[in-house]
Amino acid sequence: MSNTKAIERRVLITGGASGFGLAIAETLLAQGAQIAIGDIDSDRLREAVQNLDKGGDLLSLELDVTSPVSAKAAVGACQETFGGLDTLINSAGVIHFAPLAEIRESDWDRVVDVDLKGPFLCSQAAAPLLCENGRRGRIVNIGSDAAKIGCPMILSYCAAKFGVVGLTKALAAELAPYEVTVNCVCPVGVSTTGMGQTVLDWKIGATGQKIDEILTGTAAGIPLKRNATVADVVNAVMFFLSDESAFLTGVALDVDGGLLSTMPVPGTKE
Ligand SMILES: NC(=O)c1ccc[n+]([C@@H]2O[C@H](COP(=O)([O-])OP(=O)(O)OC[C@H]3O[C@@H](n4cnc5c(N)ncnc54)[C@H](O)[C@@H]3O)[C@@H](O)[C@H]2O)c1
Repeated sequence: MSNTKAIERRVLITGGASGFGLAIAETLLAQGAQIAIGDIDSDRLREAVQNLDKGGDLLSLELDVTSPVSAKAAVGACQETFGGLDTLINSAGVIHFAPLAEIRESDWDRVVDVDLKGPFLCSQAAAPLLCENGRRGRIVNIGSDAAKIGCPMILSYCAAKFGVVGLTKALAAELAPYEVTVNCVCPVGVSTTGMGQTVLDWKIGATGQKIDEILTGTAAGIPLKRNATVADVVNAVMFFLSDESAFLTGVALDVDGGLLSTMPVPGTKE
């Protein structure tokens, strides 16, 4: 079985028109990979193509990850254009803020459909290509710190992201015989993406604080004393695409500056 360097990969990135997905696309394209960005937002897709298209091998696809037909069509387009697919990055995501009593069924369904059913449907559509080609296929799901710890006001998001960790581990077991690894990157909040802005706006509305106060407060709560960046997330994804991570599968990696793994002890240095 041959190794597949990140730079040689043929990659489908869901939610690839914005935020983490777009940054992952940019990084892989710069390294010579063949990239398909799939997104439901056609305006963002157009803008992304204008910014990314610098002669690299870029395919832009209108994709709704909640639709099995759309997921299969995106994978089919990758096969047609690239001759196959080695890698799937499930980055498409939405969030919804409401207390328990005010969550409408339609809001719950939308979040769980995009954030959990989406990675399932796209993995199901891509798996035959990832398994068949003997090039060490990879799936990387974008989870969240909310995939590891309960948070109020975002019940549907938490439930869906915990589900993504379960999906990651179960798929890792199912696809291991084909040397396909399945891992998950779980970042804390990054304010500079589309979702990051949505979360920031909600925090501003809920607390009345200014942006700087909020960002300073979140950084202070992180053991490494800074907020996460898009680059932190891209680096973790790139690690899971590298040969160096070939023996890792079913991992849900915290990209959180130690937030979920450590606890301050009074009287010790913070
Ligand atoms: N930014 C953060 O603070 C943060 C933290 C932890 C995890 N995440 C996760 O990172 C992932 C990427 O989010 P982001 O922060 O880059 O936000 P983003 O809004 O910039 O990107 C998400 C993209 O998903 C697309 N999308 C939404 N519904 C879709 C659908 N049905 N089909 C296809 N595409 C769809 C959106 O159009 C958007 O382009 C999400 O899964 C999110 O849950 C974000």
